[in-house]
Amino acid sequence: MAAFSLPERIDIAEICPRDGFQSVKEFIPTESKNAIIDELAQTGIRTMEVTSFVSPKAIPQMADAADVMAHFRSKWKGKVTSVALIPNLRGAEGALAAEVDWMNFVISASEDHNMSNTRRTVDASLEEFRRVGELKGDTKLRLSVATAFMCPFAGPVPPEKVIYVMDQALEAGADGVTLCDTIGKADPKYLVDTLATLRERFGDYPLTLHLHATYGMALANMLAALDAGITSFDAAAGGLGGCPFAPGASGNVAMEDMVFMARQMGVETGIDLEKVLAVARDMESVYGLKTDSHLSAVKPGSCCA
Ligand code: COA
Ligand code: ZN
Repeated sequence: MAAFSLPERIDIAEICPRDGFQSVKEFIPTESKNAIIDELAQTGIRTMEVTSFVSPKAIPQMADAADVMAHFRSKWKGKVTSVALIPNLRGAEGALAAEVDWMNFVISASEDHNMSNTRRTVDASLEEFRRVGELKGDTKLRLSVATAFMCPFAGPVPPEKVIYVMDQALEAGADGVTLCDTIGKADPKYLVDTLATLRERFGDYPLTLHLHATYGMALANMLAALDAGITSFDAAAGGLGGCPFAPGASGNVAMEDMVFMARQMGVETGIDLEKVLAVARDMESVYGLKTDSHLSAVKPGSCCA
């Protein structure tokens, strides 16, 4: 029986300050966000999605994006790569003014979810993506394909829809692509089948995977994706997160669970598990944020030895 084909090392970006915080109803004071970001920046991560430049009417929690980015830049520029999510041209202007390293433009593969998330058709979003591509200068531009596998409204999303968005974004100058299982409903078989179809079209183009743990399939999906050659992932400390515009969507895959499983299998992440667990504990006890991960449920002292 053949073993899994595993890489020696993977990259995991910390996205709790964006995808995690955006689904927290009560406003987290900017100083608290900054303090958590400072702790997260010291866990060994190399990339952090720090905030999003979105309409404060759509996501009030992200209203302090410019202030949070200013803090991040003053402390971590050159040490941790910054990413900010944007949904439109206006968001790009905010992100460029804040000197982010990467803009992460979100467009759904599914028409229904794109409309719910950004009140635009997919084609209208792609048109704005092109305009952002023209003005990005040295700043990197990533495409995040939301609902790349399953849509809360339309069900399974055919890979052709992902290809449609990716094709145009790459032509418009995208520097990277992330596939998002926005509602955590992709199963490992569906996910790997989609990756295989994308590989036929895009060859070895490096893809990042953004997984949610809603239906308990995130770690199985991670393993399937590793075996399929993916080496770049998103995760959120404490498993916070969820898209406010996808009914029932819940937490991102927890950073601590991903790092632990990788470590058990001898896959290097460069991320300090104990430090991630300490931040997750602080988020609960100091800042009152509800965390959810397998590792945080294990009695202290018994999980990481
Ligand atoms: N940042 C800040 N404000 C923004 C903005 C941005 N990126 N884009 C639009 N706005 C403001 C406009 O200035 C306008 O404000 P006003 O009413 O005070 O004049 C208002 O939002 C509406 O602008 P409009 O262009 O009509 O946008 P919209 O109402 O169609 O909203 C989005 C579209 C994309 C801006 C909005 O739906 C959004 O921000 N969604 C967030 C998506 C998200 O983050 N989802 C979770 C992560 S995947
Ligand atoms: Zn997400």
